[in-house]
Amino acid sequence: MTMPNRRHVLRAMALAGAAAAVPLPGVPAAADARPAPHAAGPTGPAPTPEPFIRPLLNPPVLRPTFRTPTHDVYRMRIKEADVEVVPGLHTRLWTFDGRFPGPTLLARRGRPVLVEQSNELSVPVTVHLHGAHVRHIDDGYPTDSIAPGASRVYHYPNDQCSATLWYHDHTHMAEAENVYRGLAGTYLIEDEADRRLCLPSGRHDIVLALRDAQFDADGTLVYNGQPFYPTILVNGRPQPYLRVAARRYRLRFLNQANSRIFQLSLGEDQEMVQIGSDGGLLPAPNPVTALPLYPAERADVVVDFSSHPVGSQVLLHNTPNFLPGEPHDILRFDVVADGGRDRSRVPDRLADAEDLGAPVTRREFVLDFDPATGMMTINGKVFDPDRVDITPALDTTELWTVINPDAKLPLPHTFHVHDAQFHVVDRDGRRPSAAESGRKDTIAVNPGESVSFLVRFSEFTGRYVYHCHMLEHSAMGMMGQMELIRS
Ligand code: C2O
Ligand code: CU
Ligand code: CU
Repeated sequence: MTMPNRRHVLRAMALAGAAAAVPLPGVPAAADARPAPHAAGPTGPAPTPEPFIRPLLNPPVLRPTFRTPTHDVYRMRIKEADVEVVPGLHTRLWTFDGRFPGPTLLARRGRPVLVEQSNELSVPVTVHLHGAHVRHIDDGYPTDSIAPGASRVYHYPNDQCSATLWYHDHTHMAEAENVYRGLAGTYLIEDEADRRLCLPSGRHDIVLALRDAQFDADGTLVYNGQPFYPTILVNGRPQPYLRVAARRYRLRFLNQANSRIFQLSLGEDQEMVQIGSDGGLLPAPNPVTALPLYPAERADVVVDFSSHPVGSQVLLHNTPNFLPGEPHDILRFDVVADGGRDRSRVPDRLADAEDLGAPVTRREFVLDFDPATGMMTINGKVFDPDRVDITPALDTTELWTVINPDAKLPLPHTFHVHDAQFHVVDRDGRRPSAAESGRKDTIAVNPGESVSFLVRFSEFTGRYVYHCHMLEHSAMGMMGQMELIRS
């Protein structure tokens, strides 16, 4: 039993599609430095590029600026850059280090990383490492911004399991636009336990960051606060191809879209073996033919191309589609070489399931839309950085239930908690699927559903947020604040 199953995804997408027709009540107030939001620019929409003419871009793994015996130190510049996203056009983006997506950071468990971020944009930014367990001052709190011209050092202890994390802007009420304009990148944590499993590695381990976007004929990026945009990008390019050998690959899917839900399938219902979710490896491999991925979720899969003859092509599909002209095939794998001796494998057991024990505290979070104000709420309230909503005690297990009422404007949500990975125990009265049996930090909650999970915060006190990761929703208030306290 897979949850959310295909029916749920289809329903959520249909609802989201219907909601798309209702313009979300206003894009968060645009500061002067921001390009004015527009539906379609003077030059009209960009022509649909020919598919599969450019290779997949593998964002470079950033080299540390220097290493000390105990730390890796990076310097990054947050700046504008002109990037050829659509072939032949140049698009002005907001980037980490001039790259789109941002460069990949590769960390080792137990070895801390320092990242100095210099803000060369004319708007404030703040950088959050999604999925990481960090002190609150390093968490990229929404109002803890780096002013234009200033810089700031973030400290990441990397004291957690191997996982696909990502970093992105988190500015109060502007995160949706800032991330859309390009401020996101991947952050991988590796560890010994993962390495010992002999999963596909090195150049057979590939990050595939998915998102959507819209471009005018002159290349201008269009942002209008809508939930969907017609161009699907994989690592910053529409419909790239990737040359592979006929062997196993580890593919790390990451949904970096503001609001779009993906449902991925490969070739003619080829099996993908899911091995990991947001915060690390699953307890056991989970074979699937369809992979739903809500905004900010990650799914690590192993795909075996060895049954495909050299010279064949395998398409990665995204279904269903809900904008006219939107591509159904988003990436093409070209099998160009035989697999040689493939020593990788997928063992039956991947990671130990963590036991968080029985909950001591229970909390409920109702996600809703307030038609009177046009704002998005949690338990009837809009995010206020000056208000603390809950005060979980460290080292205490809590049971959180997130409820999406089947309201007049039914919208899917994707609930994210900072600073900890949680364990789903119940989805709508049923046990979670295998896909949701591992460490999660973001969870789909479709209209009418409720999802419960166990969470336990540790080590660091202070203020953190939890929110819907449909970024237009969080920017419109669907965010709460917790202050972690000593028990
Ligand atoms: Cu991915 Cu609060 O963020
Ligand atoms: Cu986060
Ligand atoms: Cu939401």
